[in-house]
Amino acid sequence: TAAPDLTGRHVVVSAGGTREPLDPVRYLGNRSSGKQGYALARAAAARGARVTLVEANTGIPDPAGVDVVHVGTAVQLREAVLKAVSDADAVVMAAAVADFRPAVYATGKIKKKDDGGAPTVELVRNPDILAEISADRALPGQVVVGFAAETDDVLAHGREKLRRKGCDLLVVNEVGERKTFGSEENEAVVLASDGAETPVPYGPKEALAETVWDLVVPRLRATT
Ligand code: C5P
Repeated sequence: TAAPDLTGRHVVVSAGGTREPLDPVRYLGNRSSGKQGYALARAAAARGARVTLVEANTGIPDPAGVDVVHVGTAVQLREAVLKAVSDADAVVMAAAVADFRPAVYATGKIKKKDDGGAPTVELVRNPDILAEISADRALPGQVVVGFAAETDDVLAHGREKLRRKGCDLLVVNEVGERKTFGSEENEAVVLASDGAETPVPYGPKEALAETVWDLVVPRLRATT
């Protein structure tokens, strides 16, 4: 059994992928399964934390002993995360949040045009939740962790993203055939704002989850 090193702590984890509706039957989505976020939530609960899991479109049953908030869109995920982090010791943003959403939501199904043409979908930016919670820490010493899926120059892009987002830890994984999206396995490097870089070999998402908490625990603010 895990050491109860998150006892008395409240941690917030986001998981899954947001869906941005175009009309009542269509959305823009992504391939996130939510498995890594659920592994993080279960691991934190096993280590004694009170866990709030903000879940988007995973279809995974609620884990025992975890408070689950179900959301659909990036805007809803932001609301739920901002509410949950107000008293959180740590936040892990494992969800794949859509960077853009359709500028307008069509209340009726978008129809094919008689002239054979196709509609143009205009997109607008979604708020960057990770950057926002990193910049405006709800509590002093709150530990903020992000994820980044990259396809090339993984470390260089990861280091740049860690700085840009302003988080304490960034889990950088390479998107590949047998890992990351939908897979049971992952391989990553965890970059820390203090310069530490922790490689995590190819293995189950549960193992990466434990490594993330191992790196969060020593960075938590002291309790009185
Ligand atoms: O910029 P990119 O999408 O690669 O960053 C990924 C990280 O940022 C993840 O931790 C994700 O949860 C978070 N994110 C966010 N809000 C967005 C986009 C990404 O919090 N709009």
